[in-house]
Parts: sequence; structure tokens; C-alpha cells
Amino acid sequence: MAGEGKEEVPVELREQPRRGEDNEAAVDAMRACYRGFDPVAYLQFNYTPPRADFQRADSIVPWKLTCLHRAFTEGDVGGEVLVDVGSGPTLYQVMSGCEVFGRVVLTDFLEVNRRELQRWLKDGTSSLDWTPYLEYVCKLEGRRPSASGEKAARLRSVVSDVLPIDVHRQCPLTPGAVPTCGADCLVSCFCLESVSPNLAAFTRALGHMSSLLRPGGHLLLIGALGESYYLGAPGLRIPVVPLDEVQLCASLRESGYQLLQLSIYTLPADMSVGVDDVTGVFFVKARKP
Ligand SMILES: C[S@@+](CC[C@H](N)C(=O)[O-])C[C@H]1O[C@@H](n2cnc3c(N)ncnc32)[C@H](O)[C@@H]1O
Repeated sequence: MAGEGKEEVPVELREQPRRGEDNEAAVDAMRACYRGFDPVAYLQFNYTPPRADFQRADSIVPWKLTCLHRAFTEGDVGGEVLVDVGSGPTLYQVMSGCEVFGRVVLTDFLEVNRRELQRWLKDGTSSLDWTPYLEYVCKLEGRRPSASGEKAARLRSVVSDVLPIDVHRQCPLTPGAVPTCGADCLVSCFCLESVSPNLAAFTRALGHMSSLLRPGGHLLLIGALGESYYLGAPGLRIPVVPLDEVQLCASLRESGYQLLQLSIYTLPADMSVGVDDVTGVFFVKARKP
């Protein structure tokens, strides 16, 4: 007979994973999801038309580039060091910031993404042609599209490192990667909600990121609203924390950021292309007091 000679343990006293262990297991499961991430497919899914259609003002990428351009040229965001958290295989997010900061640090959890970035930095080879992106940002800056070559050169000259990062660690970067007082600005796009198992882990990751930022520094955060999954490769559904604006603002507050601006983009129907179930995109400008 099962349990013969053994004392029956009440359900509430049976060994349960402790809260911290539970969280760690969930975070580990998210890390494991990224084993099959394919940068080439990811770029194709998200960074080609209709999502990156520079002839359409309602396309996602022009909206993101415009938000970033405005934030980096309003005059209050500046300093020496800009860190991009969870760069992935993309460069669009630092195309405006590279004109304002003397040093840009790119970061990602996956080596395959860091290699993709390093290839472009070294000789311009990439799985995606970034020229239309560079041209669009030049136009936003009031320059001729043909200045895109100068912008590419500027970007290459200011990126000092492409580093491994894990936002679930209290210290996401290796010590010494950024000045001890912290970076002057952090930018992060579509990272935290797509690497966290739940809202609590998302909020904790925001707090970990804050340790990389100096007091008075700025956080520029772009991310998905209402998304439950995205494709990290053909057939690889990566779970996402389906955020709404209220949760986002609460997480920022809890992590000690002062919200300066929140803009929302609602996805036009034809931008739903079967690679995720995102309904909108947020842009946040916040400050670490
Ligand atoms: C949805 S992609 C976003 C990429 C890019 N920033 C963009 O705007 O398209 C999420 C990125 O987070 C990275 N990532 C996965 N786990 C991570 C972790 N624990 N810490 C930091 N980044 C992580 C992935 O490798 C991937 O590049």
C-alpha cells in the first residue's frame, strides 16, 4: 500500500518550490525559449514592409524612429554614455542617439545576435539592409538622405562594445561595463516584456536595469501592448507578458522611475502579419530621480 508506514503529510506542508525558486524556474524557462531564436527570420518578420514601410506614416518602424528622434533632440536627454538593453539583431534604436552620445554600448543575451551586430559594425554586412532606416533618420534630422553614409560612420565610431546582458540578474552587465555612477541614458525596445515570464519579473527587470542608470539619467522604453507571444523563428512562439498602459505605469513607478511621457501606437489591421498578436506599441520617456 502506498505510503504504508509513512506519516501522511498534509498538502499545505508538502515541499513546494519556495517563491524565489519558482521565479527562478520560470525565468530559466524563458531563457530556454531563446535557444532557437533566429535573427534572420526575426528581422524579416518585423523589419520589412508593411511594418517598416517608410512611405507610410502609420507603419510601426517610422513611428518608433520618430519617437526616438524627438526624445533625443528635445534637449534634456544627453551625456556621454548610452546603453541599449537587449539590442537583438537591430540597430534602428540607436540611430538618433548616436548623434548625442559619445559612447554607445549595445547588449544582448544571445551570442547569435551580438555577432549579427558586430558584422555590421565591422564591415556593413548584415542580414538586413539598414540604409533605408539611416536615410529616414537623416530626413527626421533635416539632413539629406544621402547623409546616411555619414550617419553609419558615426554609429560605427561611437559603439564601443557589444556585450552580453541578462536583465534577470541584479547586475545585468559584467561589473565595469558602464561607469560606476551609471550610464546617462538607457534605451530598450521590445525586450523586457518578451523575456519575462510574468508582470512581477518584468517589474523586477526594470529595477535591475535602473542599476545601470545614473541618478538624473533617462530611460527610453519601447514595447508591445496586449501581446501574448511572438515568433522568434519560424514556428517558435515565445511567450510575452501582455501589458496594458496601467500595468506599465505601475511597474515604472514601483521601479522608481518618474514618467515624463507615454505615447501609444495602435496597430492598423494590416500590420498584423501572423508573427505575433501585438495590438499596440508604447513609447515611454522616464527619468531616474
Ligand atoms: C523581441 S527581441 C527585441 C530585439 C530588439 N531590441 C528590437 O527592438 O527588435 C528580445 C531580445 O531580448 C533578448 N533577450 C532574451 N533574454 C534576455 C535576457 N534575459 N536579458 C536581456 N535580453 C534578453 C533576446 O536575445 C532578443 O534579442
